[in-house]
Amino acid sequence: MQMTLKIRRFNPEKDAEPWWGEYQFEAEPTDRLLDALNHVKWYLDGTLTYRRSCAHGVCGSDAMLINGRNGLACKLLLKNLGSRITVEPMRGFRVIKDLLVDMEFFFDKYRAIKPYLITNSPEPDQERLQSPEDREKFDDTTKCILCGACTTACPSFWANPDYVGPAAIVNAHRFIFDSRDEGKEERLDIMNSTEGVWRCRTIFNCVEACPRGINVTRAIGEVKKALLFRKA
Ligand code: SF4
Ligand code: FES
Repeated sequence: MQMTLKIRRFNPEKDAEPWWGEYQFEAEPTDRLLDALNHVKWYLDGTLTYRRSCAHGVCGSDAMLINGRNGLACKLLLKNLGSRITVEPMRGFRVIKDLLVDMEFFFDKYRAIKPYLITNSPEPDQERLQSPEDREKFDDTTKCILCGACTTACPSFWANPDYVGPAAIVNAHRFIFDSRDEGKEERLDIMNSTEGVWRCRTIFNCVEACPRGINVTRAIGEVKKALLFRKA
């Protein structure tokens, strides 16, 4: 198929404003958008900058705004995007160059929710056991690959970048509902802070944006409920 790829370009060292680069080339309908970006970089304009690694929807590197919606370039087939595709960096993050955004701020929020198992009780002789039913409670939120698509699709985050954001809440959920974890209260305190979970206005953009199919809004709702029914 003959396709046109419109890419939002910006090099802060050279450009006063972002601009649109337009690239036309022949591609297979079953190519992924990442293949098309690679084609532009490898054959048409080597200065194009974007982040990618696994090319299989696992590492979360290549989230971007594709035809106005957040997605992973390596997971989307050209035939499902049309012959004229627009690609922009995710909104709400500083653009380092072209499609490459600064995610340090995003990972600060992730680190703030203590994304690791906290235990204070003595170590058992063997492992910390967990029933299949208890494991199921946080199964959905273990799927997060920290791509940032949910947080940068969230109007509450656009309005207030200090809001911890859906991705950090999803990862807090993953530990709050883990029966082996003993850090639930510390994490709930973080979720209950001014920039915590109550900033969510249940807009659902995050659910649509998540390339892993995580029900982000449900996870946020469960964290809110845990706070509401928290024992004093
Ligand atoms: S919840 Fe989904 S959209 Fe958000 S960071 Fe994780 S994988 Fe990406
Ligand atoms: S390159 Fe790893 S998720 Fe797309």
